[in-house]
Amino acid sequence: MTTTPITPAQAGFDTREMVVVHRGLRRESRLLIELIGAVEPGDTARAKVLAEHFDLYRLGLHGHHTGEDELLWPPLLARVDLEAELVLRMEAQHERVAGSLAVAEQMAGAWAAGAGVTERDALVAALVEHRAALIEHLDDEETELLPLAQRLLTAAEWHALGEHFVESTPKPQILLLLGIVLEDATEQERAQMLGGLPLPARMIWYVMGRPMYARMVRRVRG
Ligand SMILES: [Fe+2]
Repeated sequence: MTTTPITPAQAGFDTREMVVVHRGLRRESRLLIELIGAVEPGDTARAKVLAEHFDLYRLGLHGHHTGEDELLWPPLLARVDLEAELVLRMEAQHERVAGSLAVAEQMAGAWAAGAGVTERDALVAALVEHRAALIEHLDDEETELLPLAQRLLTAAEWHALGEHFVESTPKPQILLLLGIVLEDATEQERAQMLGGLPLPARMIWYVMGRPMYARMVRRVRG
């Protein structure tokens, strides 16, 4: 199909922001597998810390995907013709990601109770399966869907995604999730992401969020 590409500058928004968010999800889903796999049998204190971190990860991923389900797919589906199949594929992938996450959630509950080795290995296997579904989806979304969104969405529709996330996420957790997103962002990406926030939110990040996130990283990664 021949369409003139619209640059982020022309569109007034940049869908590559989502690649930065995904980078955080990719890292945390990998770390959960590694860190949980390394917990000694019976170490319930460590299991509690990591089970809590898994809760935070689930909150972030759920918020991200709910926003896409509600605010990204509907306007795109209304505007695509040939690519409708692509948007429907995204929906199906979200279901697989959510299903595998629900299985891991059940396993996490069983493991956190006594930090048993059988439960730990079952949880790790569930997380590996979840991550495979997640990575397939993120790769596909970044390669196929984001260029389409860049071409077809308005800046207001794109920014509604971030606003939805902020409104629907509890406040202390949102600072930690922002830390997850910013950790592996380049200098330029970090400036772009923080620049999109209102000044008071940016101040809260610097004063409260950054130290809170640093403490969390020390606790979780041991
Ligand atoms: Fe996404």
